[in-house]
Amino acid sequence: MDSSAIRDAFFSFFEGRGHVRLPSAPLVLKDDPSVLFTSAGMQPLVPYFTGRKQPPAKRIVTVQKVLRTSDIDEVGHDGYHQTFWEMLGNFSIGDYWKSESLQWSWELLTGPFGFDGDRLVATVHTSDDEAYDIWTRQIKLPPHRVFRLGDAANFWTPGPTGLCGPDSEIFIDTGPQPGVPPHACDPSESCGRYVEIWNNVFQQYDRQADGRLVPLSKKNIDTGAGLERITQVLEGVPGDTFRTDLFRPIVEKIEQLAHVAYGGGEADRSIRIVAEHSRAATFLIADGIDPSNEGRGYVLRRLIRRAALHARKLGLQTGSIPQLGLVSVRVMQGHYHELATHRERIVQTLENEEHKFEQTLSSGLDQLNGAIGAARSAGRGGIDGDTAFRLYDTFGFPVEMTRELAGAAGLRVDEGRYRDLLEEQRARSRASAKFSQDAMRFGQFYEHLREREGVRSVFTGYDELGSEGTILWLASTGTSVEEAREGSEVEIVLDRTPFYAEGGGQVGDRGHITTSEGRAMVADTQTPAPDVTVMIGTVVDGVLRVGARAHAEVDAALRRATMRNHTGTHLLHAALRRVLGEEVHQAGSLVHAPNLRFDFTLGRAPTRDELRRVEDEVNAAILANADVHADLVPLQDALASGAQHLFDEKYGAEVRVVQAGPTSRELCGGTHCRATGDVGLLLITKEESVGAGIRRIEAVTGEGALADVRALRERMERAAQTLRVPPERLPEAVEQLAQQRQRVEKELDAARRAGMDTSAVRLVAKAETVDGTRLVVADVGDADAEHLRALSDKVRDQLGSGVVVLGGIRGERAALAVGVTKDLTPRVNADAIVKQVAPIIGGSGGGRPQSATGGGREIARLAEALDAARGIVRDHFDGGRGSA
Ligand code: ALA
Repeated sequence: MDSSAIRDAFFSFFEGRGHVRLPSAPLVLKDDPSVLFTSAGMQPLVPYFTGRKQPPAKRIVTVQKVLRTSDIDEVGHDGYHQTFWEMLGNFSIGDYWKSESLQWSWELLTGPFGFDGDRLVATVHTSDDEAYDIWTRQIKLPPHRVFRLGDAANFWTPGPTGLCGPDSEIFIDTGPQPGVPPHACDPSESCGRYVEIWNNVFQQYDRQADGRLVPLSKKNIDTGAGLERITQVLEGVPGDTFRTDLFRPIVEKIEQLAHVAYGGGEADRSIRIVAEHSRAATFLIADGIDPSNEGRGYVLRRLIRRAALHARKLGLQTGSIPQLGLVSVRVMQGHYHELATHRERIVQTLENEEHKFEQTLSSGLDQLNGAIGAARSAGRGGIDGDTAFRLYDTFGFPVEMTRELAGAAGLRVDEGRYRDLLEEQRARSRASAKFSQDAMRFGQFYEHLREREGVRSVFTGYDELGSEGTILWLASTGTSVEEAREGSEVEIVLDRTPFYAEGGGQVGDRGHITTSEGRAMVADTQTPAPDVTVMIGTVVDGVLRVGARAHAEVDAALRRATMRNHTGTHLLHAALRRVLGEEVHQAGSLVHAPNLRFDFTLGRAPTRDELRRVEDEVNAAILANADVHADLVPLQDALASGAQHLFDEKYGAEVRVVQAGPTSRELCGGTHCRATGDVGLLLITKEESVGAGIRRIEAVTGEGALADVRALRERMERAAQTLRVPPERLPEAVEQLAQQRQRVEKELDAARRAGMDTSAVRLVAKAETVDGTRLVVADVGDADAEHLRALSDKVRDQLGSGVVVLGGIRGERAALAVGVTKDLTPRVNADAIVKQVAPIIGGSGGGRPQSATGGGREIARLAEALDAARGIVRDHFDGGRGSA
């Protein structure tokens, strides 16, 4: 029995006993937002069990799609853990009870399914004499094969709350002498001897949030058997789902793509993970989930990324996950039509997500390996939360993946710190969204405050990153408040603050403000009115009050990276003017921690050589390690000295001039390194046009530059490894490869042409004759439309007078080509034939009267399409009555 036969047998057994068959509900239940995914056959039926909805029948049978993520880390270690699977279930809604239910399970297993009854054992709840008697007296299972166990093993609840009750489970005993006591272990222990196949839940309570069990007025039966487990046994591959017909085509595709063999090898774990997760993801996408960073979307993202990671371990190319998704669609669409309906979306979504992940995978792995190495050599037992968060935020590594990779190296991850950082980031994005929305109101509010209350703050952040001050003002959601408590979003004004407010292209600082009673996390800093610095964030601890003494501390790592990018921007500006000329003027800039962006005027694209010279100039200035300092000078003096400035910027009477080395002098209020050497290294990462006469350069400095170089080196090493040459020989190796490829393509072309000539002759020799006209109809096997067209043209030209219809399949596509000799085109038209038959293979096509091609995805229907084409031609010629 294969899996389809098992589903059928299950349905018909219970339909024969008065059950009504319902289709599988989706993996996401509209009616029940409390569960992430459908994780048991009973879940979609809960409204019937509770009486909230009228059931279609009192006896129901289903095969339900389910997804459980609690064991996701176990997938791959053995042949039977899965996240997605199918649950066979029969249900009684206030109708039959224990005796029928257990009796029928037994009958189906030992009857139609053909299990050896001597190998089966059962468990019941210690308190359940009724179930025990049914097993031992009615079904006559010897008492030593019925185990009485406690709540942990034999009481089933769908979650912390919900419909539940004692249960009775059926296991296969795989021991050396099945069913013979003394048993070394019982089925609740994971000694590997017993394999669970079916659970009968005697549903009689509704568990409340406080743990109370409220008896149901009507008792129900809820059963569940794993389709995959039963298939394993009936297909003779116990313990290995991946050898059943459900998975075999997926595993074969992986074997073929990765040139590995499944079974007993090192690659097994990755093969199973890729197969299982790509299938689960396919089902989730079909049920409307999109990858994201929250809830269900996050689970999907984890599945795809974990599959992609292991795909790469196996050496699979990007694009393999969508291909495997298509195999799942093919295997399962007969039972789950939604897969066929959403086929395009499935491919698109898998492609996008895999691609996104691929883009950052190697730099992320680099970072992680660095962190693992560092932790080991420092003798630390783990990876810190900041690294885990950066891997998530910048490189898209789900934290579970970091945990798994670190775990393989024997290290733990500080997930508490990771979760704090995640929460801070969420608060930050909430704060900034709120800020832009309320910017107008925000500005007016603080202008008033400045006028009426004389509120001012002194900026201390040129010299220090932490300062003591007093809270002058607090506001929360648009109104002034005297205090702000834990959890509330808050705007804080201090009399002295080291927090830099966004301006001059440099982003606002982040950090923390602490008083004796509480602490706020600052996500952004703005200056809505002159000399009024507002720190925007969330109270994360205790309470903040107006008048309290406060310690304000800027996030130093972020600020230092920002300063490097700011000083780097000045050096870049000076170098651009020296290399490209005085027509270069600043047109805009963005300075933050990850990189810098500088827009400038130039009527043409700079050449590669010019950009390299700019980069050289900047790095020479960095290496010179000259002083960076700022002076307050009268505006006139500053302009006279040639300091760079923005024309449309308003400046006060005194301005701040930042001097960085001998060449760079700019009016600037921003924060800078103390010496040019602090910038470390500046690398231009991008140059492009962003409008008429305006160019944009992006660059990285410091740690950003280091990460960039690392990623580049890693990519080269990977490529060099693949080509088996030392990295320095990579360019020659790639050139050779390209030449080789050209040669091989030419040879292949010639071989194809030669092959085509012989095939054409063979096909012509097999021509049938219909009413004096020669007709060739054939499936030529592996071919795409292009190939078929060339071949059919050849055949047509050799036919003298006749019609040729060829079909072929390449990859996931079927193709057709039709050729008609010129003399016959008044009667039959190649274009018309293709247009008529291509829809049969789910596609379209067309061409000219003498030659036309078409293609589609329904490869299984190619023969049907060829028959239809033959029929059309015959209709035209049989008796010579037809016309095209
Ligand atoms: N609802 C029961 C289970 O999932 C049958 O095991």
